[in-house]
Amino acid sequence: MGLLSKIFSNTRKPEGFFGRMMVNGMNGGGHARLAEWGLSFVKVAEDANVLDVGCGGGANIARHLNRCPRGKVTGIDYSPVSVKKSREVNAAAIAAGRCKVVEGSADALPFEDVCFDLVTAFETVYFWPSIEECFRGVRRVLKEGGRFVIVNEDDGLSGNNEKWEKIIDGMHTYTPDELRTHLSAAGFRDITVHNDEKNHWLCVSAVK
Ligand SMILES: C[S@@+](CC[C@H](N)C(=O)[O-])C[C@H]1O[C@@H](n2cnc3c(N)ncnc32)[C@H](O)[C@@H]1O
Repeated sequence: MGLLSKIFSNTRKPEGFFGRMMVNGMNGGGHARLAEWGLSFVKVAEDANVLDVGCGGGANIARHLNRCPRGKVTGIDYSPVSVKKSREVNAAAIAAGRCKVVEGSADALPFEDVCFDLVTAFETVYFWPSIEECFRGVRRVLKEGGRFVIVNEDDGLSGNNEKWEKIIDGMHTYTPDELRTHLSAAGFRDITVHNDEKNHWLCVSAVK
């Protein structure tokens, strides 16, 4: 594996020194702007129960906690480095009983059926295995009428995606049409696509 692949494979699963650097980086800069853009399309109740899958450094858990001051937020990530950072960033809310961060994978969500109002996935579905199985799992844990929101920095149409897919093993950059197809195969309805064609940012939301 080349050095570039070694460093950037930490976006797929942060590990060790480079992984710790990567989760710190994820909490600022471009990820923050993308997250704010994606969340501008999401309405959520103040007391909502929210799940953020692939929570990375936990910045989006913190955003959800701010947007839902009477709600609860759970983060899940299969990287222990991400889980540790998310717990540090959201320590006060964890101590107050409003937040949990769990180590686990998107293809085996360890939650009861029908418990979340909103599930989000920022910059992470590129790496999920068996995408439709994962989407079915998200649908299972959502309440009826609950919403799943996917936010990606690359809409698969930028021309950069092939380069990144070569550098990061196992990555797939979904186009809006691919996400629409997989979401509807997993049983979602009312699929809405927001595509910033200048930046190639993508926000896809779907209802259970
Ligand atoms: C590029 S980072 C994005 C982190 C965060 N969502 C953000 O926007 O800053 C991708 C994260 O998804 C996690 N991830 C990737 N595949 C996953 C899976 N199958 N299950 C759980 N987490 C996963 C990685 O460990 C990593 O923390």
